[in-house]
Amino acid sequence: MLEVKLFGIRFENPLILASGVVDMTPELLRRAHNEGAGGVVTKSIGKEPRKGYDNPTIVELPYGLINAMGLPNPGWEAFLNEFIDERFDFPVIVSIFGGTPEEFAFLAEKLEPVADAFELNLSCPHAKGYGMEIGQDPKNVYEVVKAVKDVTDKPVIAKLTPNVNDITKLGLAAERGGADGVSAINTVKAIAIDIYAKRPILSNKVGGYSGPGIKPIALRAVYDLAKVLDIPVIGIGGITSWRDAVEFLLAGASALQIGTAVYLRGFKVFKEISNGIIEYLKEEGFSSIRDIIGLALKV
Ligand code: SIN
Repeated sequence: MLEVKLFGIRFENPLILASGVVDMTPELLRRAHNEGAGGVVTKSIGKEPRKGYDNPTIVELPYGLINAMGLPNPGWEAFLNEFIDERFDFPVIVSIFGGTPEEFAFLAEKLEPVADAFELNLSCPHAKGYGMEIGQDPKNVYEVVKAVKDVTDKPVIAKLTPNVNDITKLGLAAERGGADGVSAINTVKAIAIDIYAKRPILSNKVGGYSGPGIKPIALRAVYDLAKVLDIPVIGIGGITSWRDAVEFLLAGASALQIGTAVYLRGFKVFKEISNGIIEYLKEEGFSSIRDIIGLALKV
């Protein structure tokens, strides 16, 4: 009932662990799958090891989190060594980030042996020279996607930033570049201030807002993208309950990523959301999740 096939890959359900949330080791990825994720996205991997920013890197707010981790990662070589002998019975999407199309292509070539697909981080809202600094410009999105597609046959998903006027321009650029899908959205650029210290709380000052507070923004982005793109849209942004998940599917998402809800409530959210979707489908007389994707676009 929940099975989906995206870019030729079978996912036993459409709920995918988002990049950067309890996904540091192969064991954690397996645990996410054992506890109900249909697939996983790894932490974003770059060319060189990065320690990330100093603490504090996360602020909890009533409706979500602001984080600025600083793309901490072991670098492609250590990541490859750690994953090369691992076998997974679920799809593993490797997230990569670079400062140029060549850097993205280099990483895709090197990490191909351990990736079922790639997600291109064109959207981190605060890392100098990376993420959204590149991904806010449709021309760059096109060039990065094309460069990666030129070196790999693995499916390529562009993860888009909401910090633009019109996210559909980025989606269309990714599609023109040959992307197999897009994921929307990454976090919303944000800040929190300590009123007694009278300074920003995060060491990096600015971070990315995620969680229930951004859900309506993410839902609108998915809705707009699904209207204009022929490639699948993976919805992400504040999905916490099965009702949220159903809204994203009706708005045209072919699969969903869950991050902040896992951080705040643990892996149990995958089964809670799957069970809720199954009940909803039965009550509404649908036999497959595929039958509800994009229904809200038709009115
Ligand atoms: C981070 O590592 O700071 C977050 C990455 C992202 O927002 O893509």
